[in-house]
Amino acid sequence: MPPTRTVKDYIRTIVDFPHEGIMFRDVTTLFADPRGFRMAIDQMLNPYAGMEIDMVVGLEARGFILGGAIAHQLSVGFVPVRKKGKLPGAVISEDYQLEYGEAVVEIHDDAIEAGDKVLLVDDLLATGGTAEAGIKLIERLGGEIVGCAFIVDLPELGGRKRIEALGMDVHTLCE
Ligand code: PRP
Ligand code: ADE
Repeated sequence: MPPTRTVKDYIRTIVDFPHEGIMFRDVTTLFADPRGFRMAIDQMLNPYAGMEIDMVVGLEARGFILGGAIAHQLSVGFVPVRKKGKLPGAVISEDYQLEYGEAVVEIHDDAIEAGDKVLLVDDLLATGGTAEAGIKLIERLGGEIVGCAFIVDLPELGGRKRIEALGMDVHTLCE
């Protein structure tokens, strides 16, 4: 029997993208494979089975792909956190630092109601700056974050510790 492929086996690394020195962990190869994609969605949801979740919030851009599939699986709605200037309605914003630059993310100010139970999803946790900005946006609207789920953790960049230090449950599938 051939060895069973894990989620990690479907992810490829592109060297020096988007800048020299960055090893870019590319999940498009995981998303493109029907078994890999289903495995990733199922494993991201595993720890939350039976828990009350009112909505999924996904971080631009690959968090939209994962978040849409996860929200569909849970039969709940999906809310995007987008880069500055992309959302058409009234927004609240958070600035943050990236592994390779800085950015601003936004959420519609009416997207979450106080007390809503939220699952936050993205493809990858590096420094944790993006996830922290997303968490701040959700909490400013009164959302209660049930968990933060990612496919990849880059432990040397400290994101998991940073997000756990905010009191969050962090779930990742591979390093
Ligand atoms: C990547 C990744 C996460 C973020 C993680 O997105 O998809 O959202 O970086 O990095 P951090 O933990 O250091 O914040 P990117 O900023 O490349 O944006 P994109 O998905 O819009 O391409
Ligand atoms: N976002 C931040 N660092 C990254 C990396 N090394 N690969 C993919 N996405 C990233």
